[in-house]
Amino acid sequence: MENFQYENPTRIIFGKNQVQDSLKKEVEAYGKRILLVYGGGSIKKNGLYDVILEQLHQIEDVKIVEFYGVESNPRLSTVQKGIDMIKEHQIEFILAIGGGSVIDAAKAMSVGTYHDGDVWDIVTGKVDVTSSLPVGIVLTMAATGSEMNGNFVITNWEQKDKRTFSSIHTYPKFSILDPQNTFSVPKEQTVYGIVDSMSHVFEQYFHSSKNAPVQELFGESILKTTIDVAPKLIEELESYEYREVVMLNATLALNKILTMGVKTDWASHMIEHGVSAVHDIPHGGGMAIIFPHWMEYVSETRPEKIAQLGVNVFGLNPDEIGTKQLAKETAKRVRSFWNSLGAPSRLSDYEIDDKEVDLIIERSFISGETIGNYVPLNKEDVRYILQRAL
Ligand code: NZQ
Ligand code: ZN
Repeated sequence: MENFQYENPTRIIFGKNQVQDSLKKEVEAYGKRILLVYGGGSIKKNGLYDVILEQLHQIEDVKIVEFYGVESNPRLSTVQKGIDMIKEHQIEFILAIGGGSVIDAAKAMSVGTYHDGDVWDIVTGKVDVTSSLPVGIVLTMAATGSEMNGNFVITNWEQKDKRTFSSIHTYPKFSILDPQNTFSVPKEQTVYGIVDSMSHVFEQYFHSSKNAPVQELFGESILKTTIDVAPKLIEELESYEYREVVMLNATLALNKILTMGVKTDWASHMIEHGVSAVHDIPHGGGMAIIFPHWMEYVSETRPEKIAQLGVNVFGLNPDEIGTKQLAKETAKRVRSFWNSLGAPSRLSDYEIDDKEVDLIIERSFISGETIGNYVPLNKEDVRYILQRAL
């Protein structure tokens, strides 16, 4: 293993009716001037908005300001508007109600509030972050793991640039995870979330370090239980039993436990972020297309971990074929599993064609000449993967 430090200050409050049981008490600890941040209105349709407001109005002298309309793949311009609102209303606490996009936008606002210059300078790491407004979460969709990590991903749409930022200052103070609040997530978004959470395990499983047995077994257990439950869940979207497994798995997939002691890969994510920087597609849909192609390509030079995944998670027989073939078969199994749920497999499914490939490559390389650690890829490698994915 590599040397590592681990710190995760987010309190997870998991289970039925935890908004009703815990929200008021959690919020009260941070202030009375609250900014609610949410997306395009799903929380109004499913009734969660009313449940939350009822709880918050029980706080004495509470002042609630609302910022809504955060889009998927949240944009810098949205974050800037939120920061202006925070300053105007002297907000003390941000409550984000939504999936990864809403949470990420709220986190970016929380650090941007303490920076007088351009918030993009924070996102791109040009200025250091030393403080943030406290953020709490009511999670409505299982996918990104943002509810228990310090990441946010923001798109500068004018520059066609999508960046990930990470800091100890952007961990949520608490996250309320009631699987019932994900019942209304449509099938398509449910599948994207499953693909994304599995991709997060892959990115950490395909590491370039030695001797990480417990990290790998933990990753495999997240994958196996997700693979078991996902097909049942998409047939029964209001199953508490299936939703709770998928929700916890997605959180565990990216709370950085799997990153302990290993050099993780993340090339597939960098490529997908390049794709969605240029073409506004759902992140999970992009991952479903890119990851199997990455696996196939990397199987040529370093098949071992991919073959191991095939044997331990997809039940392939290691005695029947060689390691490289096993790895390639694993890539096929991953693709066909995701396709069986309804995920896309080609960039052309999103009307992306080869005219966009050059810019996508450019945007996949934030700094340096290579991306990824398990097998470092240069721009020509990424071109090959993207061409195969068209
Ligand atoms: O906006 P509303 O109306 O709420 O609808 C959303 C949105 O249309 C809907 N939805 C969410 N909960 C719902 C619901 N609809 C009905 N019922 C509910 N309970 O789902 C749609 C997608 O939501 P979004 O938040 O965009 O999805 P996701 O959670 O997949 O987040 C994607 C964003 O997160 C970033 C992605 O790049 C993308 O920008 N990522 C963030 C990461 C992180 N912070 O650690 C890591 C990831 O790798 C990822 O890059
Ligand atoms: Zn992801």
